[in-house]
Amino acid sequence: MQSISQLQQLINQAISEKQFNENPTELYEPINYLMLLGGKRLRPVLLLMATDLFGGSVLKALDPAVGIELFHNFTLMHDDIMDKAPLRRGKASVHARWNENIAILSGDVMFVEAYTQMIKVDDAILREVLDIFSMTASGVCQGQQIDMNFEHADGVTIPEYIEMIRLKTAMLLGGSLRIGALIGGANAGQAKYLYSFGENLGIAFQLQDDILDVYGDPDKFGKQVGGDILSNKKTFLHIKANEIAEGLDEEELNFWRNPESGSGTEKVEAITAIYNRLGVRQLAEEEMNSYAEKALFALEQIDADAEKKQALRRFAEELLVREN
Ligand code: IPE
Ligand code: IPE
Ligand code: MG
Ligand code: MG
Ligand code: MG
Repeated sequence: MQSISQLQQLINQAISEKQFNENPTELYEPINYLMLLGGKRLRPVLLLMATDLFGGSVLKALDPAVGIELFHNFTLMHDDIMDKAPLRRGKASVHARWNENIAILSGDVMFVEAYTQMIKVDDAILREVLDIFSMTASGVCQGQQIDMNFEHADGVTIPEYIEMIRLKTAMLLGGSLRIGALIGGANAGQAKYLYSFGENLGIAFQLQDDILDVYGDPDKFGKQVGGDILSNKKTFLHIKANEIAEGLDEEELNFWRNPESGSGTEKVEAITAIYNRLGVRQLAEEEMNSYAEKALFALEQIDADAEKKQALRRFAEELLVREN
């Protein structure tokens, strides 16, 4: 079995061999830029680990793994426009470095290129793989739209938030694992447990991302710290704070809800101070841990090599103490 860093290397090598040199350069240059900025390669690693878990060939799964990473990077390119995010992986986001139209169209063509890689799987599983991929992609778009709707909504509940992050983030982790399992030859029952592992891990992963958005180290996080606060994102921290704030804290939260009350560092600092007083970070971590436990429980149910399951377990645990 290959280590996680070996799998990451394999993916990085495949990505650097698949650089886009077509014209017009404005369309393709941003793809190379974003894909080569790095990133954890979480989804393709999960895909390869799933293939390996059921005894399939990792090399055969490499093209769809790159396809999944292309898809993920397409969602980031468009997400950064939608979230008005200036930074990605420690560098200027694509729309900030070029412009929004370029980021829209480069993203579109990336989505097409993702399918181009995905259809390289064996004919026998092609239809099923494309079905999973299309369903996953629709789920991500649904989640992203709900995320945008929530920016202007009051009274969003924790279950509504969890459902939104299940769609925008967790489905892609689950989908990557399901595709990998199919390539590896898993039966439907085993693939289902693996999907459940991915879905619950994905929810925990987005909870961690939302925590890092407030509490991350700006030098390591690679994104603008406080971005979610500035866009009034309905994160677990935001919703919980609204639920439990009383008196002056409640008044202050209401004050900052008004766009005319100001923005920028002042708003981020004030709301972070309220979060600190209310202890919502710890509540978010508890919620994250409960989803991590659900993920690991599903993993335990899978009938496969214990050492390979252990590797997935360690990978999941390390992911939830990450700094970027
Ligand atoms: C960022 O994904 C988007 C989320 C779902 C939080 P990652 O944190 O996997 O980003 P990279 O690919 O490692 O940069
Ligand atoms: C995005 O969630 C999930 C996607 C589908 C891209 P975020 O908006 O929190 O992701 P980041 O923090 O910008 O990476
Ligand atoms: Mg974003
Ligand atoms: Mg977003
Ligand atoms: Mg985020």
